[in-house]
Amino acid sequence: MASPNPPPVIVVGAGLAGLSAAYSALQAGAPSVRLLERAAKPGGNSIKASSGISGAPTRFQNVAKYGVDHSFWDDTVKSAGTRLHASVAEPIRTQRQGLISLLTNRSASAIDFLTDLGVDLSVVAQLGGHSKPRTHRGAGKTPPGAAIVTTLLAKLKQAEPRFELVTEAEVTQLLTEDSRVAGVEYRKGGAVQALHGPVVFTTGGFGGDTHGLLAKYRPDLGGLPSTNDPRPGTHTLLSDVGAKLVDMESVQIHPTGFVDPANAQTPIKFLAAEVLRGEGGILLHKGKRIVNELETRERVSKVIMDLLPEGEGEGEGEGGDLRQWDVQLLLDPGATEAAAGHVGFYLWKGLVQKKKVRDLDVTTRETLREYAAVVRGDKKDAFGRIAFGHWNLGAEGADIDEDAEVCVGRVTPIVHFTMGGAVFNEQAQVLASELGEPQKPIPGLWAAGEITGGIHGDNRLGGSSLLECVVFGRIAGEQAAQSALKGGA
Ligand code: FAD
Ligand code: SIN
Repeated sequence: MASPNPPPVIVVGAGLAGLSAAYSALQAGAPSVRLLERAAKPGGNSIKASSGISGAPTRFQNVAKYGVDHSFWDDTVKSAGTRLHASVAEPIRTQRQGLISLLTNRSASAIDFLTDLGVDLSVVAQLGGHSKPRTHRGAGKTPPGAAIVTTLLAKLKQAEPRFELVTEAEVTQLLTEDSRVAGVEYRKGGAVQALHGPVVFTTGGFGGDTHGLLAKYRPDLGGLPSTNDPRPGTHTLLSDVGAKLVDMESVQIHPTGFVDPANAQTPIKFLAAEVLRGEGGILLHKGKRIVNELETRERVSKVIMDLLPEGEGEGEGEGGDLRQWDVQLLLDPGATEAAAGHVGFYLWKGLVQKKKVRDLDVTTRETLREYAAVVRGDKKDAFGRIAFGHWNLGAEGADIDEDAEVCVGRVTPIVHFTMGGAVFNEQAQVLASELGEPQKPIPGLWAAGEITGGIHGDNRLGGSSLLECVVFGRIAGEQAAQSALKGGA
């Protein structure tokens, strides 16, 4: 029954999961939505997303070339690794696989949802661990995260005053009444305020909480740089009301953070988007390839981290506390052209440099010749790479053009994403039960995005974070709206 005086839906955190939840709560008829954001500006890590959002089968994929894409689920299960190994007990397996099914089955409609709002997602690339090209971005210069976030924000602003974004508002506590979540307490401008209503929690991961949750769960990662905004993790706010956490040790190391030659020791780095490899880029160590660049991030990072880090036996020794490696990302003219929007920005920032092939060292030139033979189909790749993006250097003839220009930048493995988080279910309800136990939803509390755990297991596939934000954010917003319409019960 509809309540005569329904409370607002409260969304905590204005990244993509929060924006998706806020939008769908309004669509589902919530009388009002209050979006509380700790930072001065909305967007979180979502606004920095650079490669795109994965989805299949979609109208933007090239069916004539690759066939209809039915392998997203399989790729995601494979990528989850030991967390979905054959030995994993049945109730846990079913729960994890249910989340993956929802993620992948709703991926095409997530792409449609964003496209219908006006986001261009017409360019599709193949990222690591994906067996087909399915990561969508726009054709222009605006990176996908910024395009999606700004579009959703503009739509939400049209709903004012039903919608209100409150920035510099840090939620410090979830309020409970009769063992249900009944609202939040937040701090703004030195004052502490309470707000009552159903809560959608979308505060992101803890990859930027270097000395807090990251050090607690993965002390071995100390000294690695990060792509994330530095900020405290919020997982204890959820466990304080009984939420269970899962896979907290499962932290993604992205293989390619840029080492800026002008500021090599900075711990927060620009990401060298995976799409650079997807569009054809290769990785070199001392002039030689070391891995199939389109393996999962977990695998590519491991191969690099098994090499000696800088300053350990290689005579580089720049000093500082950072642990970083000396690997080159190289894009031929074809890959450079295909990723022109990204490359223009990285050139401008001084993160990559243009070089003529003839000015590269002998080993690198020999590697390029060998790789061109692989792309031409004259020989098999020793590392098993079979997708080459738009690489075209030497792809036609017997030798490579020494006058061709390539782009080269130094990269290093970097903390990027936290797979672990709050146990939740297919209705985006936060659970007070462990994975595999009979589900105990915490009334009044939903979650979506990187704060949740249990979907990606050991390794998240590229583009699947923006996807989970949209898929589960929309579910959470809708559920919370229905609760608000019933008076928050
Ligand atoms: P966020 O976007 O991080 O938003 C969380 C928000 O909650 C933040 O604004 C934060 O300030 C706020 N918050 C935190 N605590 C509180 C509190 N106590 N009170 C109020 N507000 C709070 N994924 C992809 O799928 N594709 C990509 O191409 C891609 N590229 C990436 C590139 C970079 C450089 C980075 C860092 C990540 C990338 N990712 C990508 C990962 C993806 O962007 C994030 O995992 C995802 O966007 C997280 O979204 P979210 O909404 O869960 O959290
Ligand atoms: C990237 O652009 O490499 C990041 C993509 C992702 O995290 O999914």
